[in-house]
Amino acid sequence: MAEKIKVLISEEEVDARIRELGEKISKEYEGKQIHLICVLKGGVFFMCELAKRITVPVSMDFMCVGSYGDGTKSSGVVRLAKDLDESIENKEVLIVEDIIDSGNTLYYLMDVLRQRKPASLRLCTLLDKPDRRVKDVHVDWTGFEIPDEFVVGYGLDYAQKYRNLPYIGVVEVAE
Ligand code: HPA
Ligand code: MG
Repeated sequence: MAEKIKVLISEEEVDARIRELGEKISKEYEGKQIHLICVLKGGVFFMCELAKRITVPVSMDFMCVGSYGDGTKSSGVVRLAKDLDESIENKEVLIVEDIIDSGNTLYYLMDVLRQRKPASLRLCTLLDKPDRRVKDVHVDWTGFEIPDEFVVGYGLDYAQKYRNLPYIGVVEVAE
């Protein structure tokens, strides 16, 4: 079984959009420090690029929230695989995600983080698949809305492969 990757959003388009998001976010948080929370593993590529385009002071932490299963379908069961290292109390927290589809993971995560009393809690995602939404999560900044297709690259994997692609692609499986 061979897989082919078709480019959906080019490297140039992704880079340009991240620059725009960086500018918007920097304006919104003027005079403040942003505490970026990366949702591992997928969010790490986007967070690094976004952080480079933010002009206000930034600190960072990482967490890993997964659902069981490793193919193209998630089981819907959320588990906290790695918690943050630092407290977020009174911090201006911005969660950075690679993709939001059902919203199940983010709904759970935001609920957990809200209980830790951050000064603010907002969400930035590189990709959004609104057609897949099950839980109502408010997204503050979105890179691209995409159709309900399985995508890889820029942190997103297919069975742990393709995270390192510098563009967003669609997996085409040929028998
Ligand atoms: N690709 C990779 N991982 C994902 C996707 C996707 O399209 N949707 C949710 N997790
Ligand atoms: Mg993710």
